Amino acid sequence: MEYFEWFATTVTGLEDLAAQEVEELTSVVAQPDIGKIFFRGGIEHALIVNYASTLVNRVFLLLARERIESLDDVYKVAKRIDYSWIIEPSQTFAVRAERHDKQLAFTSMDAAATVGRAIIESFKSSMNIRLKVDLDNPDLEFYCLLRGSEMFLGLDTTGPSLHRRYYRVYAHRAGLQPAIASAMIKISKWRKNEGLLDPMCGGATIPIEAAIRLRNIPCGLMRKEVRLEKLKFVDQSMVRELRKRIESNIDRYATSEIVGSDASPKSIEGARRNVEAANVHDTVKLIVGDCLHLEDWLDWEPTHIITNPPYGIRMNIRNIVEFYNRFIDSIGKAAPYSKLTVIVSKPKVFTKILEEKNYRIQSMREILYGRLRASIISAEK
Ligand SMILES: C[S@@+](CC[C@H](N)C(=O)[O-])C[C@H]1O[C@@H](n2cnc3c(N)ncnc32)[C@H](O)[C@@H]1O
Repeated sequence: MEYFEWFATTVTGLEDLAAQEVEELTSVVAQPDIGKIFFRGGIEHALIVNYASTLVNRVFLLLARERIESLDDVYKVAKRIDYSWIIEPSQTFAVRAERHDKQLAFTSMDAAATVGRAIIESFKSSMNIRLKVDLDNPDLEFYCLLRGSEMFLGLDTTGPSLHRRYYRVYAHRAGLQPAIASAMIKISKWRKNEGLLDPMCGGATIPIEAAIRLRNIPCGLMRKEVRLEKLKFVDQSMVRELRKRIESNIDRYATSEIVGSDASPKSIEGARRNVEAANVHDTVKLIVGDCLHLEDWLDWEPTHIITNPPYGIRMNIRNIVEFYNRFIDSIGKAAPYSKLTVIVSKPKVFTKILEEKNYRIQSMREILYGRLRASIISAEK
C-alpha cells in the first residue's frame, strides 16, 4: 500500500481523543496538533476515517507543509506540486484559505487566489491544459492554512464536514456539535451495557451519538458519498470492498438503556424525528420530563447522566447558580450514584456546586465551540 501524509480537522480541545480514535480505527499512528491531527497512511486509512470517525470534521491529503514569509513564497510552494495525478483535466477546483496569524502582510483571500493561480500554472506546464475554477460547486477543493510562518496545503477528501450528521433532520436551536457529544460519551467511559440518561436532550444528539457508538454506525458512510471516493487516483473496487467491510461491522440490533428527556415537548418531537432518521428508535427512548424534578418520574438509576444544560446566555449568574443547584439536588434525590458528564460554559460555578454536594471531579477539559469556550466536566460521588 502506498503511504501519504494526511491531516484531519477536529474541535479544538478534542485533538488527543480524535488521534486516539483514528489509531483505533486504522492502526496507524496519529499525532495531535492544534485543531487537527496528522497521520501517515494509505488511501484506505483515509477512507476509513472519513466513513467511521465520530470526532473528525474533515480529512485532507497533505500536499505541502512549509515555512513562508510572503505571498511569493505561497505561490512557489503551491506551484512546485504536481497536480496531474490528482485532477482530471475536465474537473473544476476551488481553493479555500484560512489565516491564523494577523502578522502576515496579505489576506486569506490573497492566499486563496495565489494558490489557485499556482495550481493552474503548474497543471498547464505539465499537461498543457488550463484548469477551470468553480467556487460554488467544485469537483475538488484545496485548503491552504497559514499559521504563524507555516503553510499547510491540503486536498479536501471529505466534502461537507462530517459533523453534519445524516440524522439531523431537526435542528435544535442550541444543538450540540455531534463530535462534542460523541467525545463526552467517550470521556464518560460509558460502556455499552450501562444505562445512560440525557435529561436535557434537546434534539437528542447525545443519546443518538451513544447509539451510534453502541451499534458501530459509520456516520460518514451513511451519507451519499465522501469526496475521496470520486478522486481519480482512488481504486473503485477498493472503495466497494471497504464499504462492504465497514457496513458488515454495524451491530444493527444491539440495544442498551439509552434515554433522552427534555422539558420541552417541541424538542422531544424533534428528537423523535432525529432518532428515527438515525435508525436508532428501537434503542433510544424519549420522554418529556423536568430535570429539576427527576424524582417525580425517573424510576431507574442510570449509570451515567451525560448532558448539555442551557448555556444560560440569557440567564443572569444568580439564575444559573440556582438552576445548577436544583439540577444536582434533583439528581441527588433520584439517581445519587449516577456518574455525571456535562458541558458547561461556567465551569468554576459548576464544579463549586458539585464539590459542595460531595462529588469528586474526575476530569475537566476546555474546548472551543464556535467562538464559545466551554468545559466538559466528569464527576462522581
Ligand atoms: C443546550 S440545550 C440541549 C441541546 C442538545 N444537547 C442538542 O444537541 O440538541 C438545553 C436543553 O435543556 C432543556 N431544558 C431547560 N430546562 C429544563 C428543565 N428544567 N428540564 C428539562 N429540560 C430542560 C431545554 O429545553 C433545551 O432543550
